[in-house]
Amino acid sequence: HQALQIAIDGPAGAGKSTVAKIVAKQLQLFYLDTGAMYRAIAYKVLKSGVSMEEEARVSQIAKHTEVVLDHSEERTVWCDGEDVTQQIRSPEVSRAVSVVAAYPEVRERLVELQRREAERGGVVMDGRDIGTHVLPKADLKIFLTATPEERAKRRWKELKMAGKDVSFEEVAQDMVQRDREDTEREISPLKPAGDAIILDTTGLSVDELVAKILMLAQEVV
Ligand code: C5P
Repeated sequence: HQALQIAIDGPAGAGKSTVAKIVAKQLQLFYLDTGAMYRAIAYKVLKSGVSMEEEARVSQIAKHTEVVLDHSEERTVWCDGEDVTQQIRSPEVSRAVSVVAAYPEVRERLVELQRREAERGGVVMDGRDIGTHVLPKADLKIFLTATPEERAKRRWKELKMAGKDVSFEEVAQDMVQRDREDTEREISPLKPAGDAIILDTTGLSVDELVAKILMLAQEVV
């Protein structure tokens, strides 16, 4: 599977990263979580005290920030040499990230990094615009969906497991808001590529979903 490219897009909580990681491992491809990159930039902006609304300054920060995703099992996310793996999952970052991700210069910079990573070899990439923009020639494009209730439930459980004390309503509301911003932005909005296979994951187990994607991957190799 040397240069196999699999794009997995979809809204928050659809199960993208969970299945992308497993599929990558099974097919011996590397996995790239593009959302983590946008989150790292949002984290840096929050930390620097610059307002999210200041597009020019946010774009400058993005240009001068070094984001490195570690490809080992730990999947450490580095932002200018700082380990931000935990911090980028906070509700504050989750709320700020879609603002940052709507800025053209921020996207330009991160997409460039993502494409460079894809040159290393076969990859499973998850995000919002992988099939439509980052890897338009990907061998397999999957768009994962699930009902908003199911997605919020999954995300809430994840946060609970990580020891975060957040209410279900708060998680559900933040998620609806973020999906709206991601769908309505002008540049590379969240939407399935014309040639994507849309999979509704509601009620499916991770194993079932992985099996389905592996089957689809078999067909394109
Ligand atoms: O995947 P995750 O939920 O961590 O992504 C966080 C945010 O980063 C998304 O809500 C979106 O605003 C942005 N993003 C994006 N394009 C991608 C990946 C993530 O705009 N390819």
